[in-house]
Amino acid sequence: MSEATTLLDRVQELQDAATAQVAAATTTAELEDVRVAVLGRKAELPNLLRGVSELPPAERGAAGKAANVARGAIEKALAERKSSLASAEEAVKLAADRLDLTLPGSPQLPDGALHIITSTWRDVEDVFVGLGFSVLSGREVETTHYNFDALNHSPTHPARAATDTFYVSDDVVLRTHTSPMQVRAMEQYDPPLYVVIPGRVYRRDYDATHLPQFHQVEGLAVDVGITLSDLKGTLMAFARSIFGGELDVRLRPHFFPFTEPSVEIDVACFNCTDGWIGGDRCPVCRGEQWLEILGAGQVDPNVLRAVGREEYHPERVQGFAFGMGIERIAMLRSGIPDLRLYMENDVRFLEQLR
Ligand code: PHE
Repeated sequence: MSEATTLLDRVQELQDAATAQVAAATTTAELEDVRVAVLGRKAELPNLLRGVSELPPAERGAAGKAANVARGAIEKALAERKSSLASAEEAVKLAADRLDLTLPGSPQLPDGALHIITSTWRDVEDVFVGLGFSVLSGREVETTHYNFDALNHSPTHPARAATDTFYVSDDVVLRTHTSPMQVRAMEQYDPPLYVVIPGRVYRRDYDATHLPQFHQVEGLAVDVGITLSDLKGTLMAFARSIFGGELDVRLRPHFFPFTEPSVEIDVACFNCTDGWIGGDRCPVCRGEQWLEILGAGQVDPNVLRAVGREEYHPERVQGFAFGMGIERIAMLRSGIPDLRLYMENDVRFLEQLR
């Protein structure tokens, strides 16, 4: 037997052994070890190839070719095995990393919600925007001129008392209502004027139905030929929209220094609509069966004069104005009679008013 024949047999043996090892490898890491063992620098097959040059010239061709074919076959087997092992490994890894996106997060964060004062404020604003009014905002620190004088309060009007009003200085107060914005709006904008002005107001009061700081929405409409029926129609539309047309509403004559004539609008007391059974009299309306939600009236000519603009001369334009308490409206909608609860921010309370 020639050396070449022995060599060819050995090449075949090495190829068979190598392909068996390749097939037996179960991981890409094992396969890499196989590759180094069969084709690496110290492996037998590459070294046999180097030995081909020492064969007699006539045998070199066949031997070299056989060794190269073997090498090619092993490389091909390695590549195929590698790609099938790699994709199996990838699949295992993906399965282990699998994320169930439908599982609830942990810890679960509580959802926030608008405070009932904020949502009521927005709802009231929305109703008037729907009726064609624009929204303005005003200042909470106000001069006595805008808060009282320009609104036709006499110099001795009781609302000016330091027991009722927070004074910052002799002629600066925390506004006691949003009405000072009536005159400011007329100073700034020409008629026709249809505006609502929501905001915070301050009074020295604190009990179940009064807070030292609360919220009002002022309304002002000034145009040619505005009458009390425009006021009535507008506020009835508002009340129906906010209370869903279920609660009874009434207009009652009243007095405000800055409107003439003046009215108060009441809605039926939510707490004793079906008769009060809790004792002497319902604590919410004090037995009146009605709750006042807003004051209103025709703008007093003296207020139009205080603006000091020809465009607002009382013989040219007329207007109506109204002011409502947001807390009152929230209270009526939620049925919770103690206003202090709205300010304490006890989450257990707020949760119920979502
Ligand atoms: N400013 C009045 C109050 O706070 C409400 C009001 C506004 C009345 C506008 C008439 C017109 O009670």
